[in-house]
Amino acid sequence: MAEIINGREVSGIIRDEVKEKVRLLKDRGITVTLAVVLVGNDPASRIYVRNKEKACEYCGIISRKIELGESTTQQELLSVIEGLNADKDVTGILVQLPVPAHIDADAVIRAIDPSKDVDGFHPQNVGALSIGLPGLKSCTPAGIIELLKRYEIPIAGRECVIVGRSNIVGKPMAMLMLRENATVTVAHSKTADLKEVCRRADILITATGRAKMFDRSYIKEGAAVIDCGMDRDADGKLCGDVDYEDVLPAVSAITPVPGGVGPMTVAMLMHNCVEAQMLR
Ligand code: GUN
Repeated sequence: MAEIINGREVSGIIRDEVKEKVRLLKDRGITVTLAVVLVGNDPASRIYVRNKEKACEYCGIISRKIELGESTTQQELLSVIEGLNADKDVTGILVQLPVPAHIDADAVIRAIDPSKDVDGFHPQNVGALSIGLPGLKSCTPAGIIELLKRYEIPIAGRECVIVGRSNIVGKPMAMLMLRENATVTVAHSKTADLKEVCRRADILITATGRAKMFDRSYIKEGAAVIDCGMDRDADGKLCGDVDYEDVLPAVSAITPVPGGVGPMTVAMLMHNCVEAQMLR
């Protein structure tokens, strides 16, 4: 029987752990503040930001929302970030992505003080992760490591195939799995014979954004499957990159969508806010 990895439950446990750490800091007169910058009117971004605010509230983290109009210039946004970098009361800074097309997202990420970069997107944090130095880690991959560890799914020495090479999930995921001594393959849209590559995986991590593309024919019997997809099927229903019902009989463990990887991202963001306070 496949174990269903309950990301909602684990994220709840992590939020409670963070809440306790925030309380202990408060006892020492230290507050944790997350500044969330939202530029423009993307409806999905609004929902994500609202979820982050709610999580802050739960954990006792002060959230400060900075809403900027669609026509905000890059220079204006950089000035806001500069102000937050210099503000001693601000522990973490997050600019919700995507930013409007006339703004260079990489320049924005580079402008954030790496010690306040709770998304873990700054090149300094990405570099630190790559060479095993302390730093803030990208939330979704860090959340996946938490899921694997808390479900006692062994990583060291095992074949891990990651499908997707984004800066937010695929690449940092590969670095974290390497750090845990997995044998890592990063596959992507140009990979020849993707099916054959996936069938090597003891741990298959999918981050392609293509609804239900991984059916049973991609799965090695007994593999653990981690699905980072947040896709819509033909009926408009939320689903993952993995055809869940089809692969279920073949896997040893699997994350559902929704309720698997998704809730972990915000939980790890809360964790990173405390981590940023500790790294100060
Ligand atoms: N947009 C989608 N995912 C993310 C995320 O993890 N962080 C930020 N800042 N924006 C996002």
